[in-house]
Amino acid sequence: MGYLTFEYTKTAANYVRIYQDGAWQTGTLTEADELHLPSMATALHYGQEAFEGLKAFRRRDGRVQIFRPYENAKRFQGSCAYLLMPTIEVDDFVSAVYQTVKANLDYVPSYESGGALYIRPYMLGIGATLAPVPSKKYLFGVIVTPVGDLFKGAFKPVNLWVSTVDRVAPHGTGQYKIGGNYAASLYAQSIAKSKGFDDSLFLDPLTHTKIEEVGAANFFAITKDNHYITPESPSILKSITNQSLQFIAKEQLGLTVVHDDIYIDQLDGLVEAGACGTAAVITPIRSLAYQDTVHVFPTNHQAGPITQKLYEHLTSIQKGDREDPADWLLIVE
Ligand code: PLP
Ligand code: COI
Repeated sequence: MGYLTFEYTKTAANYVRIYQDGAWQTGTLTEADELHLPSMATALHYGQEAFEGLKAFRRRDGRVQIFRPYENAKRFQGSCAYLLMPTIEVDDFVSAVYQTVKANLDYVPSYESGGALYIRPYMLGIGATLAPVPSKKYLFGVIVTPVGDLFKGAFKPVNLWVSTVDRVAPHGTGQYKIGGNYAASLYAQSIAKSKGFDDSLFLDPLTHTKIEEVGAANFFAITKDNHYITPESPSILKSITNQSLQFIAKEQLGLTVVHDDIYIDQLDGLVEAGACGTAAVITPIRSLAYQDTVHVFPTNHQAGPITQKLYEHLTSIQKGDREDPADWLLIVE
């Protein structure tokens, strides 16, 4: 397999399960990766759609393991509930993910490639309604595809543009993983790219003074006194990668983990910064362009030493080179 990008390629099978007349039917694996939907489906017109993103990794011994699927299952329940969609039980979610990965083992990139099988569970309202009300019919699916990193050139520090437009409201949908949030970040991302930046960074939508997150990744930084700091807010998605890094920082690197506001005009105490997520893994941040100033972190074009350690620990746990610290991995037998 050549250089892996973050693009979709069809695999052998994906999973679909329909909810109708108040109950889930039996799920099945199917080869077809196209759906037949009513043109008036609520997912298409009113954004009644939620999704997840997780990965399966090839170990050195050739076996395949899925990273923290139970956490994605729980977060998915929250996203679906907010959009008034039916619940998928945690065990059913994990079983669907497991079956789909198992049916596509040949598509899990090799240990050496540095790639992974990206897993995309999703739920769509597929009932036709003209009024903006919840659908009566839903589709839960799991589709997978082999990928490399989201940001090209893994571990190359990126330059971010601090967006002047918001992606979510202060007490809105930011903590949920729903399609509308991504539609709402496309415009900011396009401005960032047109100005020559790699992506945009969003501030808190209430005061526009505090760092929230990147369009598809959380923000963390290392302070001068070696604390791992990351913001918390109802408009930030609770990243499972970020939670894993907090565990590694505290339990394996002996750092203090701090949840606190990070003001965009007070960055001098930060010696390293990064974006983290399933797709982004850890992407070091070189600089933040805010209004007329560009703040360059001291690590500049390099990944900082702690960022490197975090990356090494996370990726070696995911690939099975380090011990699974807390039942994070589900091996596909
Ligand atoms: N924040 C947003 C908005 C995201 O889309 C993602 C990706 O899923 C993340 C953060 C990172 O979350 P996770 O580590 O669970 O993939
Ligand atoms: C992730 O799964 O890490 C994501 O952020 C999804 C993104 C590619 C839209």
